[in-house]
Amino acid sequence: MADPIDRLRTLQGADLPVHGGRTLAYVYDSGDPEIDRIAQEAVAAYAASNALDPTAFPSLLRMENELVGFACGLLDAPDTAVGTVTSGGTESILLAVQGARDSRPDVLRPRMVLPATAHAAFHKAAHYFGVEAVLVPVGPDHRADAAAMAAAIDDDTVLVVASAPSYAHGVVDPVTEIAAAAASRGIRCHVDACIGGWVLPYAVRLGRPVVPWTFAVDGVTSISVDTHKYAYAPKGTSLLLHRDAGLRSPQFFASAAWPGYTMLNATTQSTRSGGPIAGTWAVVEHIGDAGYVELAERAFAAVDAIVACIASEPALRLVVAPDSTLVTLATDDSLDPFTLTDELVSRGWYVQPQLSFGDDGPSIHLSVSAGTLPLVDEFAAALTASVATAQAAGPVAVDAGVVAFIEALDPAALTDDDFDGLLAASGLVGASADGDLELPTRMAEVNAMLDVASPAMREALLKAFLDRLQRPVRPS
Ligand SMILES: Cc1ncc(COP(=O)(O)O)c(C=O)c1O
Repeated sequence: MADPIDRLRTLQGADLPVHGGRTLAYVYDSGDPEIDRIAQEAVAAYAASNALDPTAFPSLLRMENELVGFACGLLDAPDTAVGTVTSGGTESILLAVQGARDSRPDVLRPRMVLPATAHAAFHKAAHYFGVEAVLVPVGPDHRADAAAMAAAIDDDTVLVVASAPSYAHGVVDPVTEIAAAAASRGIRCHVDACIGGWVLPYAVRLGRPVVPWTFAVDGVTSISVDTHKYAYAPKGTSLLLHRDAGLRSPQFFASAAWPGYTMLNATTQSTRSGGPIAGTWAVVEHIGDAGYVELAERAFAAVDAIVACIASEPALRLVVAPDSTLVTLATDDSLDPFTLTDELVSRGWYVQPQLSFGDDGPSIHLSVSAGTLPLVDEFAAALTASVATAQAAGPVAVDAGVVAFIEALDPAALTDDDFDGLLAASGLVGASADGDLELPTRMAEVNAMLDVASPAMREALLKAFLDRLQRPVRPS
């Protein structure tokens, strides 16, 4: 019998590297192999443990409470604050929205006021929980417009949201003004610090300018912060903190309405693997406050170096100066951003393309972590070479017939035949002999095609694509 771990390693060869500092989205790399070893051992030791019942697995309860306690220090939480470990940023946000909705049973058509740049997880929460997302355009600096958000609040508003920072542009919203507007109407204010919550407090301690966004701001009622991002913990944990236990209470769920054990849950999950909790606890315990200062210093040094690289390339510009560790860049007319992305990827640097949205053209997102610092010269060289090659190649053009095909489709009623027709017309994605989709190695044409589609059409096309990807592979 072949060792399945060998097969696993072979399969994993197709994935992006999670270590090495060159993957600038999806993963966060401390650059310290000892941190990875500790995480792996702790995850393995607790992979079968179940945080469903804190009395059966008290060690997990203890770890969870210690993690929330550490976060209380970072987030200027008052003595009344409480928190929960969730499975990720999206789950923390879902629970913040669900809790806000259920705290106001008197509101029949609940609404939440979001800056247009708020994470897509809020749209998912709107979809799941029937809370209308009221989107408020952001200012020219990509930060939320606090006055416009205040004006958008009405009697049905159950939640107001700010980001610290936003994912797409990496800037922190004016939390003080937004939270004040919410508080003056007695409405909850959630700060989505999923990506910034573990690094911005250290930015402040390093003397970098950051506007206030924590529980130190009056009116902030809850904050989400993902440990599986800048706490450099293994995937599968985020924290959701509330200013007091009363604000958290609608999040809890119990059911004794069946003959089995009384179900008692703090999150959307019931069985919860102990692996991510223990892995996160062990990493935070090992790194500690002083370690995070150093890691933040390294991440920000890498950010500053990358910002300088961008400034030295005439065809590139920052979309906005970063407030945190996220860098968003755009290209001038001489350079196609999607081709530039492919060129960087082909040189071993994974960067993430962002499609045009509203008045903003396409851009490229970089989540910079500490592990990238030793490689910034290599990044600069790869960027210069990629810009030159992409300029020489010229922009990718979407065939007029394909544009017409997309424009004629109805996103609300996209059929399998429509999707097959688009695949055939574009010639971008082939099918192998066994019917599997074969993904193109270069994505510029796919991104250019999606870029001309409306947001609703992008969603429909990508859902059809996912449906084709998720097909059973039966044992041969
Ligand atoms: C600001 C922000 N909120 C929410 C999320 C969602 O987090 P997750 O992917 O862990 O669900 C992210 C992810 O990058 C984020 O950057």
